Amino acid sequence: MATYPFTSALVTGASSGIGAEMARLLGKAGVPTVLVARRGDRLAEIAARYDGFEVLEADLLTPEGRASTVERIASTESPIDLVVNNAGFGTSGVFHELDVERLADEVELNVKALTVLSHAALAAMVPRGHGYLLNVSSVASFQASPGLGVYAATKAYVTSLSEALHSEVKGSGVHVTALCPGLTKTEFQEHSNTSGLATKVPDLAWTTVEQVASCGLRDVAKNKTISVPGALYKVAVTGSDLLPRSITRWVSGSITR
Ligand SMILES: NC(=O)c1ccc[n+]([C@@H]2O[C@H](COP(=O)([O-])OP(=O)(O)OC[C@H]3O[C@@H](n4cnc5c(N)ncnc54)[C@H](OP(=O)(O)O)[C@@H]3O)[C@@H](O)[C@H]2O)c1
Repeated sequence: MATYPFTSALVTGASSGIGAEMARLLGKAGVPTVLVARRGDRLAEIAARYDGFEVLEADLLTPEGRASTVERIASTESPIDLVVNNAGFGTSGVFHELDVERLADEVELNVKALTVLSHAALAAMVPRGHGYLLNVSSVASFQASPGLGVYAATKAYVTSLSEALHSEVKGSGVHVTALCPGLTKTEFQEHSNTSGLATKVPDLAWTTVEQVASCGLRDVAKNKTISVPGALYKVAVTGSDLLPRSITRWVSGSITR
């Protein structure tokens, strides 16, 4: 069983997929965790399995949902040691044919909510001289992705911001890491209209939620700047740094087409 240096945690998007698996790993390791998402029934089921878990039902697309989460992160009575910004979604399709309100919501959740909660986390942690912020980005953050353009652009923001914050707080006792998973089977595919990838992309290109969640928690504890789960994706990320942008764009577009 893994052990972690965290004394308490808050995970957004903990009702399914990668976030639910992080909650499970933290619960097994005895880390009291606040679970945040809209589906409170799912959160309550997970919370019932572990000591000291709390449910915070919040829609991070609303000012109220963000405010209640910020308030919990800022609590000095029951401080949060690790914040995981995991809630997020994507939308596949041709940009101008997609529902613009949905795309605006995607930016609001993946970018605005993550920024607001990262700010709350560092404002609480830096004065304490201790803490961990893990922002869930994607390998899609390393190149433009035709067919998933807004999603990849939001994740480019997440990786860039997290790298910058990692450097800003260096030496303060606070760790900031961007977790950049590749394809992982979760509800993400259904919500982003990319379920077709399950048959199109070979098994070896899929990482498991367990691989992704354990890699992220391990790497933020080690203060890595960027965490990429799985050998295949580590190579792919290095390749995307070396190859011309026209090629990485074509490769990433050919996966989503
Ligand atoms: N799966 C992949 O292939 C993959 C690859 C790279 C990166 N990622 C990233 O990994 C993260 C987790 O995704 P996942 O794959 O685990 O997908 P998932 O199973 O769909 O989980 C998404 C989570 O976000 C929560 N969420 C969505 N909208 C929300 C809102 N308005 N307010 C609060 N919570 C909200 C959902 O909970 P409720 O619906 O209950 O609110 C759910 O718990 C995302 O940031 C995603 O971009 C996924």
